[in-house]
Amino acid sequence: MLETELTRALHIRYPIIQAPMAGGPTTADLVAAVSNAGGLGSLGAGYLTPEQIRLAIQEIRARTDRPFAVNLFVPEQPTESEAAIAEMTAYLNVYREALGIPSNPLIPSFSESFEEQVRVLLEERIPVLSFTFGIPPQEVIQAMKDQGSFVIGTATTVDEAIRLEAAGVDAVVAQGSEAGGHRGTFLKDASGSLIGAMALVPQMADHVSLPVIASGGIMDGRGLVASLALGAAAVQMGTAFLACTESGAHPAYKQKILSENEDATEITRAYSGKAARGIRTDFMRDMQQYSGTIPDYPIQNAMTRDIRQAAAKANRPEYMSLWAGQGLRLASSRSAAAIIRQTVDQANALAQRLTGLGTSGHLK
Ligand SMILES: Cc1cc2nc3c(=O)[nH]c(=O)nc-3n(C[C@H](O)[C@H](O)[C@H](O)COP(=O)(O)O)c2cc1C
Repeated sequence: MLETELTRALHIRYPIIQAPMAGGPTTADLVAAVSNAGGLGSLGAGYLTPEQIRLAIQEIRARTDRPFAVNLFVPEQPTESEAAIAEMTAYLNVYREALGIPSNPLIPSFSESFEEQVRVLLEERIPVLSFTFGIPPQEVIQAMKDQGSFVIGTATTVDEAIRLEAAGVDAVVAQGSEAGGHRGTFLKDASGSLIGAMALVPQMADHVSLPVIASGGIMDGRGLVASLALGAAAVQMGTAFLACTESGAHPAYKQKILSENEDATEITRAYSGKAARGIRTDFMRDMQQYSGTIPDYPIQNAMTRDIRQAAAKANRPEYMSLWAGQGLRLASSRSAAAIIRQTVDQANALAQRLTGLGTSGHLK
């Protein structure tokens, strides 16, 4: 009942993709558990070095022989003035003092080399590549496809999906404004590209011939059936897996995910310089008062890294980035397999009920 063109193309049992979540949550255990349970596990590899990526892929392969995805960030070339960087460095020193870490840390590079990351994915012949923050160079998409990888892009508007289709991807994630984590917006301003999944998915499905993967606030079988009804061929769920047994999220972060509500999140550039949805923190609130310019991603991301890491070590969630979507109340601490099982059972029961409604005339 839950078979779609994507389950067939990806050789997976259920149209459920566990979202890639860079920064620790998507451990090899989580990715493999989701794939073993019939979904598609995804490794968030955007912040990993090429060697860390290779190791993680080997760990995943040691745990499952099912398909899995690896996700990368399409690189950006920010230009920020030295003055803005110096002003932010001075501002952030207040947090460093509060956390007892050195002021003015040296930042050797702002991000990992995309080319080197891609080289490992080609060498490892991964089954699925997904990416966000734009469109990779044509030769990268082609090389991945030539070696047999299925390629998935991320869009927050119909125009972005059309551009991804023209670039040759095999499927596109429709990232609704409910979604946790960074916005994948790459054509216009992020604040003008906040479209809820209920509006985004059917419009995208109407305007591209690629399979559309619904994402943002989808937490259970209700979200899955609703997404399929809107024209999606699968769902990508992040927050639903953030607090599960196999997630590598920090314990204080998991605790927040399990105790906060749908109104606890907002979109901020405070941590990384790129719009992202997370649970409101003191750091986000303070940064709203900042009178200077917040440097663009990935500069700000690199500049706050030591603070976020020290905050995690000191168990101080008020300074950590707590990315989360709006479906918070539906999050669960059970195993990934249990979450998938319940989602599938609920979706099947719901689909049957809706079919019954149709045949009994209620929907006529
Ligand atoms: C903690 C966290 C980290 C994320 N990291 C990534 C990432 O590395 N790459 C990516 O394409 N999307 C990332 N996302 C966005 C997800 O792909 C997806 O759009 C989002 O989780 C869907 O919304 P939901 O969290 O409400 O399910 C992240 C989301 C979260 C919550």
